Amino acid sequence: MKGEMNMSDVRFGIIGCGNIARAHLPSLIYGKGITCTGLYDRIPEHAEKLNEEFGGEHKVFYTAEEMLNSPDIDAVIIAVPNYQHAPMFKLAAEHGKHILCEKPLTMTVEMGEQMVAWARQYNVKTQMGLCTRFEPAVDAMMDHIQAGNLGDIYFARTDVIRQRGTPSGWFGHKERSGGGPLIDIGVHYIDVCWYLMGKPKPVRVKALNYAAIANKYPKGVAIYTSYEKDDVYDVEDSSHGIITFENGAGLMYQASWAMNAEDVDDRVEIYGAKGGLVKNPAKLIREEVSGMTTASLAVSDEDCYKLQLEDFARVIRGEKESRVPVEDGLQVQRMLNALYRSAETGREVDIE
Ligand SMILES: NC(=O)c1ccc[n+]([C@@H]2O[C@H](COP(=O)([O-])OP(=O)(O)OC[C@H]3O[C@@H](n4cnc5c(N)ncnc54)[C@H](O)[C@@H]3O)[C@@H](O)[C@H]2O)c1
Repeated sequence: MKGEMNMSDVRFGIIGCGNIARAHLPSLIYGKGITCTGLYDRIPEHAEKLNEEFGGEHKVFYTAEEMLNSPDIDAVIIAVPNYQHAPMFKLAAEHGKHILCEKPLTMTVEMGEQMVAWARQYNVKTQMGLCTRFEPAVDAMMDHIQAGNLGDIYFARTDVIRQRGTPSGWFGHKERSGGGPLIDIGVHYIDVCWYLMGKPKPVRVKALNYAAIANKYPKGVAIYTSYEKDDVYDVEDSSHGIITFENGAGLMYQASWAMNAEDVDDRVEIYGAKGGLVKNPAKLIREEVSGMTTASLAVSDEDCYKLQLEDFARVIRGEKESRVPVEDGLQVQRMLNALYRSAETGREVDIE
C-alpha cells in the first residue's frame, strides 16, 4: 500500500468496478502523483468486492452523483461497458471532473462527437484509455521514428489473434458493445499503428467480418468473464481489413476472438523507406553498408496502465498536453465505424 497521500496527488474515482478496474486500482495505489479516493459501481457489491480485494481502504460510493459531488475526487476513470461510456462521460463532465475514458470512446461517431463537445463545453481534461500507446516498447519504437530512422512510413500491419478467447456477457451483444474483436481488441492495435505512423488522415477502408465459429465456451480455454451478464452473441468473431490514408499510406489488420490460427498476442509492424520496426519483442530492421541488420530495442517492463494514469495526472496538473486526447479516440471511432459499415455492405467506405 502507498503511504501518506501527497497534496499534489491527483485523486481519482473509478466508475465501474469490473475487470479493467482491477488494472487501474493497483496503478492508482502504486503510481506516482496519483491516488484513488473512491469506487462506484451501479451494482454496489462489485465496488465492495473490489475494495476488499485491495485492502478495504477505499471509500465506496453508492450513487454516481454522490461520487461526482465529492470534493475529494478530481478525476474519474470511466470503466463501464461501452454503451455506458457516453452517459457517464456526460455526467462526469457536467460535474466538472476530469475523465479518463476506457476504450473505445463510444459506439457511434455521432455520440463520439457529442462527447468531445461535452469535454470542451464543461472545460474538463480528458484522455482515452488507449493504454498500448504507453507501452515501453511503443516509446522505444517512437524514439526511432522521431530520430528519422524509418524515413517515410508507407505501410503498417497488425494482428491480434485469439484462437479462442471470446469474452462473455455484454461484449458479444452489439447493442451494448458496438461490435466484437475489432472494437474490443483491434482498437488498441489499429490505434497504436496509426499513432506510430504519425496519425495520418484516414480516407477509405475495406473490411471483412466473420462469425464463422461463434463457439464461445470451448473446453480448456480460460474465458474473460464480463461482470455484466448477457446471452446475446451477434457480433463478428474475426475482422480483417485495410485502412488507407490521405498520404497514400496503408494499415492492414486482423483481430479475432475465435479463429483456427495460432495465437498472436500483438503483432505490430511499421514499414518505412529507410527502416522498419516490429514490436513484441521490439526490433529495428535496416539496410546498413554491411547489409540488412536487425537490432533489439531496450525496453523496460513498466506497466502501461500505471504509466497512462501518471501521464494523465500531469495533463490534469497542466504540465503537458495529453498523449491520447479524446479527439484521437474520435478519429479511431471513425475508422472502426467505417470498417463495420464496409463489412456490412461489402464495399469500400470513404471516411469524410
Ligand atoms: N484498456 C484495456 O486494455 C481494457 C481491457 C478490458 C476492458 N476495457 C474496457 O473497459 C470497460 C469495462 O470493461 P470490463 O471488462 O471491466 O467490463 P466488466 O463487465 O467486467 O465490468 C463493468 C462494470 O461496470 C458496471 N457498470 C455498468 N454500467 C454502469 C454504470 N452506468 N455506472 C456504474 N457502473 C456500471 C458493471 O456493474 C460492472 O461491474 C469497457 O469499455 C472495455 O472495453 C479496456
